[in-house]
Amino acid sequence: MAKKNDMPSIGDQNIFGKLTIEDLQIKGKVVFIRADFNVPLDDNLAIIDDRRIRSALPTINYAIDEGAKVVLASHLGRPKGNVNLRLSLAPVAKRLHRLLNKEVIFSPECVGTQVETLVSNMKEGEVLLLENLRFHAEEEKNDESFARALAKLADFYINDAFGTAHRAHASIVGIPKFLSAAAGVLLKKEIEYLKGTVENPVRPFVVILGGAKVSGKIGVLEYLADKVDKVIVGGGMAYTFIKAMGYEVGDSLMESEMLDLAHRIMDRLKKSNVKFYLPVDNVVAQSLERGAETKIVTTKEIPVGWRALDIGPASVKLFSVAIQNAKTILWNGPMGMCEVDAYCRGTFAVANAVSDAYALTIVGGGDTDYAVHRAGVSDAITFISTGGGATLQLLEGKELPGLSALTNKKS
Ligand code: 3PG
Repeated sequence: MAKKNDMPSIGDQNIFGKLTIEDLQIKGKVVFIRADFNVPLDDNLAIIDDRRIRSALPTINYAIDEGAKVVLASHLGRPKGNVNLRLSLAPVAKRLHRLLNKEVIFSPECVGTQVETLVSNMKEGEVLLLENLRFHAEEEKNDESFARALAKLADFYINDAFGTAHRAHASIVGIPKFLSAAAGVLLKKEIEYLKGTVENPVRPFVVILGGAKVSGKIGVLEYLADKVDKVIVGGGMAYTFIKAMGYEVGDSLMESEMLDLAHRIMDRLKKSNVKFYLPVDNVVAQSLERGAETKIVTTKEIPVGWRALDIGPASVKLFSVAIQNAKTILWNGPMGMCEVDAYCRGTFAVANAVSDAYALTIVGGGDTDYAVHRAGVSDAITFISTGGGATLQLLEGKELPGLSALTNKKS
């Protein structure tokens, strides 16, 4: 049995050339922390899942402990520049109050004289949360005067909103034009895990991709094709590959316009000696109705009129064996239609296989994160990314505007 300290880790990646919050002298200063508090709310505006708020706590607590005056800002949902009180950050202020165990002042505006007065009255260690930035259309337009008005509130800018780092919005790329801009604890950790793993993995490196559409993940596949040892594809996106291999997929999800690309990817993986795994059996149903009749069929015999909704037991076995000896595993996207419990079994089984592997394990994407929690194995995963689109953009090898905008560290 390998010793615990043999566990693969990301080590010192030295990939983070930007200022971080620890580089700044923030005592007594106003620190503007852009977080991603875009959390799901129910009809009564109660927070359904506060993991994104919890992930920002290390940065917020650091700033409090250092004696900064902490101004927090975020978007919530897509109010399209209008005030929509169903998307107010007031419930987040309450949750922060509970999680931080201290008062959180809530400012019903994010710019203007009222909030400027509130900030000027703050004392060291106090926390203030601004109302939803997207109540102003200027936020998404990256309007310079709006960014300047936000910057006017603070001495330093911290970006800890990894989930929004792919958006070139005023609070992400605009404010850094006016203030020294550093990464928070979460942003740095996300980049180190995601970029560090992809650029410098401990091998064998296995990537598991799932979710509905190939089009959403093709960029990731293209970028990772030469970097990984094995690729496992499940979920709706698998059936475009299966069709490209010449099999019938019945009514399963399939993007005909992606067939050529799917072919090219498979050729490339073959040329790079990357092992490629697709489901060999599937749970199929004739309708999406709950309780509809299901059966398990091999991939070569998906009947006309039936739709694959989960991977079958033979696929679970195949994938689990492929995962077993991995030293690094990156997983994004469920293996089936996980919204329905009956079609989430394959995903849960893969979650268990990933958590059992003696590997550095990274999970990304809201649905996969949710599945890992529901499978009860989240504590056994090395790192769970808080990003959706931002995670994918990074895994496609693209720049994140929110990271590029930060102040470079002097070498
Ligand atoms: C997310 O939930 O992915 C981020 O908060 C970004 O939200 P957006 O897609 O509305 O920009």
